[in-house]
Amino acid sequence: MPGLQRDCWSFYSAGRLVFGTGAVARLGEFLKPWNCRRVLLVSDRMLEKAGVVETVLNAMSGTGFEITTFLEGEPEPSYNTAQAAIDAAMKRPPDAVIGVGGGSNMDLAKIVAAMLNNGGKFSEYAGYDRFSRPPIPLACIPTTAGTGSEVSHAAVLTDTANHLKVSFQSQLLRPKLALVDPKLMLSCPPKPTADSGIDALTHAIEAYTCVDFDKLAVPANEPFPYEGKNPLGDCFAERAIELIGKHLVTTVKEPRNLGAREGMALAATFAGLAFSNCAVAAVHALEYPMGGTLHCSHGAGNGLLLPHVMRFNLPVRSRELARVAELLGENVSDLSEADAAERAVTAVEKLNQAIGIPPRIRDLGGTHEQLPEFARKAFQIKRLMLLNGRPTTERDLLTILEAAF
Ligand SMILES: NC(=O)c1ccc[n+]([C@@H]2O[C@H](COP(=O)([O-])OP(=O)(O)OC[C@H]3O[C@@H](n4cnc5c(N)ncnc54)[C@H](O)[C@@H]3O)[C@@H](O)[C@H]2O)c1
Ligand SMILES: [Fe+2]
Repeated sequence: MPGLQRDCWSFYSAGRLVFGTGAVARLGEFLKPWNCRRVLLVSDRMLEKAGVVETVLNAMSGTGFEITTFLEGEPEPSYNTAQAAIDAAMKRPPDAVIGVGGGSNMDLAKIVAAMLNNGGKFSEYAGYDRFSRPPIPLACIPTTAGTGSEVSHAAVLTDTANHLKVSFQSQLLRPKLALVDPKLMLSCPPKPTADSGIDALTHAIEAYTCVDFDKLAVPANEPFPYEGKNPLGDCFAERAIELIGKHLVTTVKEPRNLGAREGMALAATFAGLAFSNCAVAAVHALEYPMGGTLHCSHGAGNGLLLPHVMRFNLPVRSRELARVAELLGENVSDLSEADAAERAVTAVEKLNQAIGIPPRIRDLGGTHEQLPEFARKAFQIKRLMLLNGRPTTERDLLTILEAAF
C-alpha cells in the first residue's frame, strides 16, 4: 500500500526546556518575551500547603502580570474538575496559563490553555490531533519526577461516568515552556514520589521496547501520536532507566536528598521525551481501564503491571531487556542474553517492592471478575496496542492480568 512504509521518524519537545535547581526563581524572566498581561496559575491545595504555589507566585512578583489562580486541581483529574477549571478561566480569560504540579495539574492546565483557544466541549477533543488551534501560551512546572507532561503531547483526564482514563493528544499540547526545578520536588511525599517515579520508568521501558519505527503498521501519511522506537528515543530512555535505577529508592526513603531529586527530575523529563515520541504500550493500555475503575494512582497501576508486560515481551525484546537489567545496576556479565533479560523483570519487581508499589491487582481492590473487562477495554485502545513490542491479543492481555491478579 502506498505510504505504508515509515522510512523516517521525527522528534518533538516543549518549545523551550529549562532545567536547573533554583531555576524557578527566573520564571518572570522566561515569561517576559510572551508579552502577556494576565496569567492563570493552575495548581492544587496540597501544593499550596507545601509552599510550592507561593514559590512560583514569588518568582513572578514585580513582573507586572495580573495573576489569578485555580487551586482546585486533584489527583487524576475528573471531567468535572476539568470543566470547573475551564469555566473559571473563561470568566476572565488569561493570556497565558502556568501548570504547577504533578501530571494531574499540568494536564489540567493543558486542557484549559487549549480550550481557551478552541470552541465547543472539551470532551470532543479526546483522541489524537483534534485541536485545530494551538493552546494559549502555556508553561508547565513539574513538582513530581514522573509523568513528563511538561514536555509531552498528552493530557490525561478521568471520565468518571465510564470508568476510564481518557487521553487528549496533540503535538500542539506540548508546552511553550517546560521549567524543571528539582527543588520543587523536595516536598513531594513518599507515595507520590514512588508512584510517579515508577511511571517514569514505565515510560522509558515502554519507549525502549516498543515497535521499531519502520515496522509500525500505520501508514506514514496518517496522523498518529507515536513514532515507534528510534535512536534518539533510545538515548533518552537508556539514560532515564539508568538514573531511575540509581536514584528512585533514595528519593522515596530520603525525600529531601537534593542530589537524588535532581537525578529523578532529569530522568522523568528524559522518559517524557522518549515516550511522547516513541510510545507507551500495553502497560499504559491496561492501566487506563484499571485505574479508571479502581481509582489507584496511574503510577501504582503501571508499576504493578510493568514486570508482567516485560515478561510477556521477553521473546521479542530480549536484547533491549538485557540492557535494561544492566542499566538498572544488575550484574549481567556472566549471563546469557535471555537470562539477563529475565533479570530486568526481577530487577523491576525488586524496585517495586523497595518503594512500596502493591504487587497484585487484588491489593488495589480489584476483583477477578473485573479482569475480562479491563482486557477488553485495553485492547480497544488501538493506538497503544499497535505499539507493543510483541503483537498482543485480547486473550494475551487477560493472561497478563491473571498473572498480576
Ligand atoms: N500528560 C502526560 O503525558 C502524562 C503521562 C503520564 C501520566 N499522566 C497523568 O498524570 C497524573 C499523575 O501525575 P503524578 O504522578 O505526577 O501525580 P499527581 O499530579 O496526581 O500528584 C499526586 C499528589 O501529590 C501531590 N504533590 C505533587 N507534587 C508535590 C510536591 N512537590 N509537594 C507536595 N505534594 C505534591 C499532589 O498535590 C497530589 O495530591 C495522572 O492523571 C496520569 O494519568 C500524564
Ligand atoms: Fe504514564
